[in-house]
Amino acid sequence: MKSQNDKITFILNGEKVSYAGNPMDRLVDVLRENFEFTGVKEGCGEGECGACSVLLDGKNVPSCIIPVATVQNKEIYTVEGLREVKMFQILVNSFADAGAVQCGFCTPGMMISAYALLQSNNNPTDDEIREAISGNFCRCTGMNMIIEAIKLAVNRLGETE
Ligand code: FES
Ligand code: FES
Repeated sequence: MKSQNDKITFILNGEKVSYAGNPMDRLVDVLRENFEFTGVKEGCGEGECGACSVLLDGKNVPSCIIPVATVQNKEIYTVEGLREVKMFQILVNSFADAGAVQCGFCTPGMMISAYALLQSNNNPTDDEIREAISGNFCRCTGMNMIIEAIKLAVNRLGETE
């Protein structure tokens, strides 16, 4: 039987939560199944496609290869936790307006990566955008529409400053 001390405690979308299951459980499963944040998608399950990206202390990481024990005392954001954030709303609208969402499977992970980029660099070059989403795979759009969407978001963010 687990004691209180066995719990993994972390901040999830702004709220303190704890998980009493196996510390080696994958973060993607804990987020989807225990906390019902199904905006986190699982594609490859091997850290290659970016569908499962979440922010871990502000950095985008693939949650399918991270044991939940790793996030003890850290801060995780999924797309659900960013919905009220202005920069994220601009990204969502820009993806829609640029036609960057087709099946939508890759979109939450793409937006997490784009958001992480814009948090640290509000005027990225095309190469910096490509680099930021290089760990995210889209089987529908090619990538150009996604790059255009992020550039549109950059322009719109500039207009709001
Ligand atoms: S599902 Fe995690 S990187 Fe593909
Ligand atoms: S929109 Fe379908 S995988 Fe990207």
